[in-house]
Amino acid sequence: MEKIRFGLVGCGGMGTRHLYGLRELAQTPFANVDLAAVCDLRPQHAEMAAAEAERLLGRRPAIYTDLEAMRRGEPDLAAVDVVTDPSTHHRVVCQALELGLHVLVEKPLAITVRACRQIAETARRKGLLLSVAENFRRDPSARLAHHLVGRGVVGAPYAGVFHSLSPGNTIFITPWRHHKERGGAILDMAVHFTHMVRYQLGEIEEIQGSARIVEPVRKKPQQAVWTYEFYRAQYREMEEEVRATAEDTTLALFRMKSGAVVDWMVGLGGHGSAHRELILGDQGCIEGFGTRGGRINLRRAGQEEQTQEALLAQTPGFAFEPLTAHLFPSGVSAGDAAVDWKLIAIEIHELAQAIAEGGQVEVDAEWGLKDVAAIYAIFESSRLGRPVRMSEVEAGMIYGYQAEIDAALGIA
Ligand SMILES: NC(=O)c1ccc[n+]([C@@H]2O[C@H](COP(=O)([O-])OP(=O)(O)OC[C@H]3O[C@@H](n4cnc5c(N)ncnc54)[C@H](O)[C@@H]3O)[C@@H](O)[C@H]2O)c1
Repeated sequence: MEKIRFGLVGCGGMGTRHLYGLRELAQTPFANVDLAAVCDLRPQHAEMAAAEAERLLGRRPAIYTDLEAMRRGEPDLAAVDVVTDPSTHHRVVCQALELGLHVLVEKPLAITVRACRQIAETARRKGLLLSVAENFRRDPSARLAHHLVGRGVVGAPYAGVFHSLSPGNTIFITPWRHHKERGGAILDMAVHFTHMVRYQLGEIEEIQGSARIVEPVRKKPQQAVWTYEFYRAQYREMEEEVRATAEDTTLALFRMKSGAVVDWMVGLGGHGSAHRELILGDQGCIEGFGTRGGRINLRRAGQEEQTQEALLAQTPGFAFEPLTAHLFPSGVSAGDAAVDWKLIAIEIHELAQAIAEGGQVEVDAEWGLKDVAAIYAIFESSRLGRPVRMSEVEAGMIYGYQAEIDAALGIA
């Protein structure tokens, strides 16, 4: 099989994890990509990634600090995997598309709705594939929940509960995650959650939200959270404290187009902890929207609770895509130490296959834009003190909160 030649752009924490994803893919019969080059503005990050790639993949990719130079130096490159921080996505992705490259970009698609739209329009104009790396959706738990909801196993869903409150005042992975114009922690983390709400329950009609900064000063944690060499090096360089300009806590009610209501509490700060995900229907309840390394279970009237394993055994006609089935033979990712890498492998494989076969990708620019818009609908609603319709936020008619970010970044 002819392999698709890829370049990695952005060799930070998640960029490093994408290299492990490439190794997972390389170890399967589905291997369909070659990592030709790595690129990072910071030469030491690119060097570190090239050394890691050599160790993991057995071949050292070329090193660049500029995307255009990478394009010139690697004329047979077909695609790039953009893993830079969110405030740069629109510039890097649009440049890659203009250079004729297909793109896989880490979530969030971009820093504001207008920046998302720039990417969507450039991809459309160039006729190139744009795929958003939304890993939670690829997890077996998410796939099974989607199948069950779609088949009406819980009846008509009338409500969802999405609570993810983690207390504390430490810096969340990187200092940029506390700066509004760099992509705050809620955008960074909770765009996964707006995606999963939409994946399982359909489109959102209206959001009433409240957002606040509970922890204005974030402190360097006692130790690096991840054990990868990149994160340890990043930890050594980290400032002792950061003044937060990005909200860390959101409360909201989503009114879905279906009529269902979602109760949302998502935050990273303060003193309370709450973690609960429920899809409530008139015939039953699924616990869990599906997540990386997660599991779901089902309760139906008059029946015992069914675990994910039991559901898999009793759901005829349900099958994972071939690579997912290969990577997760039990159909359960919970407890799998390599789950992060495997989901990345699935994302990369999908884009390469779509390039090779002239196919489509599952999470395109429209999905990415709507996921980002739903996060900003919470902030815009909070700022205005009233509910906002998604159609107005997606069209940029309600835009006061994001206008400040666009102004800071020169997004026109
Ligand atoms: N899907 C997930 O589970 C998950 C997890 C973590 C991060 N992410 C996403 O991955 C992306 C990166 O996050 P991170 O934590 O790795 O950030 P990071 O700060 O650790 O790394 C970003 C890297 O991009 C480089 N960079 C910035 N601008 C560049 C440019 N124009 N050209 C080349 N390199 C550039 C930086 O020098 C840095 O090395 C974000 O979009 C984040 O939301 C996703």
